[in-house]
Amino acid sequence: MADLLVLGIETTCDETAAAVVARSPSGAGDIRSNVVRSQIEEHAPYGGVVPEIAARAHVEILDHVIAQAMADAGIGFSDLSAVATAAGPGLIGGVIVGLTTAKAIALAAHRPLVAVNHLEAHALTARLTDGVAFPYLLLLVSGGHTQLLAVEDVGRYRRLGTTLDDAIGEAFDKVAKMLSLPYPGGPEVEKQALQGDPERFAFPRPMLNRREPDFSLSGLKTAVRLEADRLAPLSDQDVADLCASFQAAVVDVIIDRVRAGGRVFREKLGTAPTALVVAGGVAANGAIRTALQKLSIDAGTRLAVPPPQLCTDNGAMIAWAGAERLSRGLTDPLHLSPKARWPL
Ligand code: KG4
Ligand code: ZN
Repeated sequence: MADLLVLGIETTCDETAAAVVARSPSGAGDIRSNVVRSQIEEHAPYGGVVPEIAARAHVEILDHVIAQAMADAGIGFSDLSAVATAAGPGLIGGVIVGLTTAKAIALAAHRPLVAVNHLEAHALTARLTDGVAFPYLLLLVSGGHTQLLAVEDVGRYRRLGTTLDDAIGEAFDKVAKMLSLPYPGGPEVEKQALQGDPERFAFPRPMLNRREPDFSLSGLKTAVRLEADRLAPLSDQDVADLCASFQAAVVDVIIDRVRAGGRVFREKLGTAPTALVVAGGVAANGAIRTALQKLSIDAGTRLAVPPPQLCTDNGAMIAWAGAERLSRGLTDPLHLSPKARWPL
């Protein structure tokens, strides 16, 4: 059997991305190209992603991004095994742009369409980068989602816990905004935290020691806001200390919740996970990565964290998830509808 060669398209948020990934019959992945155009500059003046601006930007550049990905891979559409696209969840305008384009290519090139769930793509990336075997424990931490999942197979995801309010990336972004740091906030908060004192403020660690591996971030976020209001006007050191203390609280919460997730995983699946996998934009955070590294060593579990550029949104993860689905005969009809909401 030959390798599967899949084009992946990602347009669910503020990244316009396309990539070509190969999957061998043994399940090994190879990224042949990976083109990501960020819309950060378009959205920065508004302090967050503006859906209408995002959709229009996707329309303007998606064709070029796909052409670049195909050229970098040195192939034509007829060489593809399938066209994969993130059919949701996400901002619906962007999802429509990606799905419509993928359908057009699939139709013109007589290739199957594979509709990928954006979260599923984050969930499966560690199999591309680290060859992780099923079943594994996944911590999915992005701007829109914070979940602990048991990944049992392609298409079989069991949600063990989720956030009851804000996503962790969202909390980073909101804290950045209240401290007047530029968008996107996560990396800025991390940068500030490096100069700050993580013990100056004793912020709450919501949900600590709860049995169910759920998260809650809004109380922590509010505590940061109250402290910032109390201190105003803020000095540079205040901002750095607030960021460091906030990030330290997030790290403690994540470690405790992942421990709870590991326990529930073993109870529900009757086996230990092959690895702890971390995915989503927040996995780019160095302090969180370091703490999870320590946790996995203590627990005797392998930690797999894709490199930062594959943790944030990209086309390679969509192409890979498409190849994984295709290898199991999973394709989709051309009349498939885009989905703004699409739980795993
Ligand atoms: O997965 P992603 O690229 O897009 C979504 O699907 O949401 O994640 C973006 C989120 C944003 O909230 C961003 O602030 C956060 O990931 N993020 C970070 C870091 N880099 C990105 N959060 C904390 N520390 C970082 N270094
Ligand atoms: Zn994402």
